[in-house]
Amino acid sequence: MPNALVTGAGSGIGKAIAARLAQDGFKVWVTDIDEKKACEVATALGIPYLRLDVTSKADVERARDHVFAQDGRLDVLIANAGVSTMNRFLDLSEEEWDFVMEVNAKGTFFALQIFARSMIHQPFMPGRELRGKIIIIASMAARQAAPLLAHYSASKFAVLGLAQSVAKELAPYRITVNVVNPGYVRTPMQEREVMWEAKIREVSPEVVIHDYIKQTLLGRLETPEDVAKVVSFLAGPDSDFITGEALEVNGGAWIF
Ligand SMILES: NC(=O)c1ccc[n+]([C@@H]2O[C@H](COP(=O)([O-])OP(=O)(O)OC[C@H]3O[C@@H](n4cnc5c(N)ncnc54)[C@H](O)[C@@H]3O)[C@@H](O)[C@H]2O)c1
Repeated sequence: MPNALVTGAGSGIGKAIAARLAQDGFKVWVTDIDEKKACEVATALGIPYLRLDVTSKADVERARDHVFAQDGRLDVLIANAGVSTMNRFLDLSEEEWDFVMEVNAKGTFFALQIFARSMIHQPFMPGRELRGKIIIIASMAARQAAPLLAHYSASKFAVLGLAQSVAKELAPYRITVNVVNPGYVRTPMQEREVMWEAKIREVSPEVVIHDYIKQTLLGRLETPEDVAKVVSFLAGPDSDFITGEALEVNGGAWIF
C-alpha cells in the first residue's frame, strides 16, 4: 500500500485531501499543529495521526523518523499547512508578516527539505520510475496580487519559487514536485477571512462572499473536495511525467 503524509490535515483542504487519499488506497498520515483536530480527523477515517508543527525542525524530523521507522519510506508528501491574516498593507504589522511567512514559506521549506533528505534514498515505487512525489498547496494568491493579503501573497509567491527550484534539484532523484493553487475555498480559513474583510471594507460578510462568487467564472465557492480531486490526480500514477507544474484549481477566478 503506498503511503502519504498531509500537513495541516486537521481542517479544511488538508482534511479533504487526507480523506480522498485514504479512499484512493493510500495509508495516510494525518498531521497538524493541533493534535486534537488531527486525532479527530484520523479517528473518523481509521488512520494514524501525528502532531506536527511545520515551523519546528525538530517536529518535522520527528515525524519523518516515525514514518520511515513505521513504513520504511514516504511515497507522497502533501505540504498543505498554511495560515493567513488580513490587513491593508499600510497597517500590516511585523508580527503578521513574520507569522504568515514563518508557516507558509519557512514551514514548507522545512517539510520539503527534511522529508526529501530521506526520500532520495528510498527505492522506486513498485512498477514506477519515481522514488516519490511532493505536492504543495499554495494559492491563487501565488499568481496574482491579492488586496489585503500582501504578506500572504508574498509567502505564496515564495512557495511557488521554492517548488520550481526544488523540482529541478530533485528530478535527478526521480522525485516530482508540483503545486496546486486553490481559489476561494469554503474552509475555516475562509470563514475567518470573510469576517476580517467585511470589517475592513465595512460591508457585510454576505457581500464579501457574493464578490468571491462573482469573480469565480463557474459561479460558486470552491469546496475542499475540488482541491482534493486534483491532489488525488497528482498523487497517482497518471501524473508521473508532470513536475515543476502549478495547477490552477479556482473555477476560473483567475486565468493565467
Ligand atoms: N481556504 C482558501 O480559500 C484557500 C485558498 C487558497 C489556498 N489555501 C491554502 O490551503 C491550505 C489549507 O488552508 P485551509 O483553508 O484548509 O485552512 P484551515 O485554517 O481550515 O486549515 C489549516 C490547518 O493547518 C493547521 N496549521 C496551522 N499552522 C500550522 C503549523 N505551523 N504546522 C502544522 N499545521 C498548521 C491548522 O491547525 C489547520 O488545521 C493553506 O496552505 C492555505 O493557505 C486556502
